[in-house]
Amino acid sequence: MIKQIDQYLEEIEQFQSNDLKEIDSFRIKFLGKKGILNQLFSEFKNVPNDQKKLYGQKINSLKQAANHKINQLKEQAENTLEEQGSGLDLTRPGYPVEIGSRHPISIVKNQIIEIFKRIGFNVSEGPEIEDDWHNFTALNLPEYHPARDMQDTFFLQQNPDWLLRTHTSSVQTRYMESHRPPIRTISPGRVYRNEDISARSHCIFHQVEGLYIDKGVSFADLKQTLLYFTKEMFGKSKIRLRPSYFPFTEPSAEVDIYWGLKTETDYRITKGTGWLEIMGAGMVDPNVLKNMDIDPDEYTGFAFGMGIERIAMLLYQIPDIRMFYENDMRFLKQFKPIV
Ligand code: DAH
Repeated sequence: MIKQIDQYLEEIEQFQSNDLKEIDSFRIKFLGKKGILNQLFSEFKNVPNDQKKLYGQKINSLKQAANHKINQLKEQAENTLEEQGSGLDLTRPGYPVEIGSRHPISIVKNQIIEIFKRIGFNVSEGPEIEDDWHNFTALNLPEYHPARDMQDTFFLQQNPDWLLRTHTSSVQTRYMESHRPPIRTISPGRVYRNEDISARSHCIFHQVEGLYIDKGVSFADLKQTLLYFTKEMFGKSKIRLRPSYFPFTEPSAEVDIYWGLKTETDYRITKGTGWLEIMGAGMVDPNVLKNMDIDPDEYTGFAFGMGIERIAMLLYQIPDIRMFYENDMRFLKQFKPIV
């Protein structure tokens, strides 16, 4: 009898199944109404008195073992079902999250903004579709000026008084219209010119304009501001101002930075001179101030304008301006990470 119970115990221990039906028949076999345990219990009265204690203990532990085993196997089988049901495979590796990148034009634009913000410039914007007054006339561009030539400007067919702005200098006049000095603003934005597309030039590009108007602003202030900017932006502290002409500034200058001639690339991009032109600048022409109802006897100011593509091409050694607008992921992905 006792031997028989030990065999049952062994059977329970060995039993393995992941099938709920199979587990249930196993339960019925041992714990059912007519199951093994009930049979053993009913035999109890026939057991000799001196063996009753041991017999009793044996069938109780058999019952416990059966219950334990059944609960354990049931739980296991239910878990497996749940996992299969949800289609989840927790062992699979996750998908990597692709982090985007900023466009190089945005990176450079933001850098320029940060640098000028630190010395008190705010950021202003104007429309890309402009009128003749803000883009040309108010900026002291006489009617016969070559910059107004059809070749350079996209006019709107419906009304030739409207055009796509050819430079961000138009934001100067917009800003002066609605703000009184002191003015310290930079205006980044897209500009358009009717030019042939090549590796060096495009009909759409970006500029940043700067305007500073207050009492007693001098050319020395312009020079210091430009020097500060080139130090922060390029880490270069040698600049030169070459006399030039812009209708809206007097005197006008073209600003070069000394890039150096250390590497072959330096030679190539500076055409062997070591100098690179990065922007136009000058003292705001009194005529522009007058057009904007600002008294040139009371106020003076300086302005500057630079091309963002040109600077980005320099900093990242991008050989062709068209790469900025092709949206080639292989190109754009190189400008990671974004912050
Ligand atoms: N608007 C000029 C251009 O498109 C750049 C420029 C030159 C802007 C001199 C200025 C300036 O504000 O003072 O080429």
